[in-house]
Amino acid sequence: KMSKKFSLFILGGTGDLARKKLFPALYSLYSKGKLEGLYKVYSLAREESQEWKHLVSKSPDPEKFNNFIQFDVKEESYYEELAKVLKKLRGQEIIFYLALSPFLFETAIRKLGVLLRNFTNPRKIVVEKPFGFDLASASRLNQILHTYFVEEEIYRIDHFLGKETVQNILSLRLSNTIFEGIWNKNFVDHVQIVAIEDIGIEGRGDYYDGVGAIRDMLQNHMLQMLSFTAMELPCCMDPELIRDEKTKLLRSVRRLSQKDAVKGQYEGYSLEKGVKENSNTETFVAVKLYIDNFRWQDVPFYLMTGKKLSKKLSQIALVFKEVPKSFAKLLDCTPKQNKIVFQASPENKIAIHFELRPPAGGFIACPVETTMEYNLTGQKLPEAYENLLIDIVQGDRSLFIRGDEVELMWEIVEPIIKEDMPLYTYKPGTLPEQANKLIEKDGKVWIL
Ligand code: BG6
Repeated sequence: KMSKKFSLFILGGTGDLARKKLFPALYSLYSKGKLEGLYKVYSLAREESQEWKHLVSKSPDPEKFNNFIQFDVKEESYYEELAKVLKKLRGQEIIFYLALSPFLFETAIRKLGVLLRNFTNPRKIVVEKPFGFDLASASRLNQILHTYFVEEEIYRIDHFLGKETVQNILSLRLSNTIFEGIWNKNFVDHVQIVAIEDIGIEGRGDYYDGVGAIRDMLQNHMLQMLSFTAMELPCCMDPELIRDEKTKLLRSVRRLSQKDAVKGQYEGYSLEKGVKENSNTETFVAVKLYIDNFRWQDVPFYLMTGKKLSKKLSQIALVFKEVPKSFAKLLDCTPKQNKIVFQASPENKIAIHFELRPPAGGFIACPVETTMEYNLTGQKLPEAYENLLIDIVQGDRSLFIRGDEVELMWEIVEPIIKEDMPLYTYKPGTLPEQANKLIEKDGKVWIL
């Protein structure tokens, strides 16, 4: 297949995301020979930072990567300068990547849209998260995008979907008949989706304080992991059919309720740089939700995410029903529950927990827990952004969020983004006690 020529324009091209994730991913892909058609990567930002300069000085090919364009998203004159660069890229595909503060998305999309009316180049636009701040602003953003771009040109990115383990949820379900039969309310007791971090906001106060844990993680990453876990299987691997199934699932998710949600803020948060005094932004959220469809009726899903918690852990656990109580009692053990755990961090693995008779033990001895771990390749796995950047270049939208999908995700979280909920304080390095209560009152515990 002849690879077409393309150039990538990163808006926010010297920022955190570009430096920490996008450039390393691009360098790695380039070095592996996977960006054949790449003409140039342009970094657009207000100023060239030292860190960015240092980074591109280590580039595998400075001609391609060391291209700085001074740019202010809000200023008309910079778009005229950009037009001059675009004029030289006749026939090439141009990809705009908005690695910007979400507060600038609207302006950037409108102005780029207007500018692009003067060009016939094939184009794509990549929009980072959070996509909007609530349902109303997300639908407005969709409308603006659709004024200038067709849905096929729009890539709403969620880097969790680039993670090997997350993609493996669907692969495991699609390629192993033994699992699909038990993947429902008849066998599954409950599901836990956790993405907790030990780090704080790491100097990102300006962004984080206007957003919080619900908009930073729950509305996007967590609900996407939920979708992959709970959706019906598509008839074939077609991007639209996969996304159809996800939207169908999201339509069945019951709106969150304040009584099944806990918000927290770590002690000392309001002293961080960029954070308002007396800020009531949550740095932690845990919720219980239900999916009102035939597969998942009455199965609780517990979701938890936040900063400055006890450790870094991203995983999805399906916990199966207990063995009949009479056996548990006979064995004098706690009731046993099988589990399937998909872990994306700290390790990439899928673990299946089951119970066995101990060697030389009798039938009624306490079973031993055995874990089967699938170390996926044994090699260093590609970073999430590498997988997704390749998909963008190749035009595969399977792992990107469709316009209707993003609005459904906002509908789900809308009832808990209002201010009128209690905000608990927790000590850095711990898990808020209220999060334990949320799950313990149902007789379950977090698997951490
Ligand atoms: C980002 C959030 O989307 O995901 C960050 O904005 C968070 O706040 C990060 O730290 C976590 O991603 P990962 O891949 O490091 O688990």
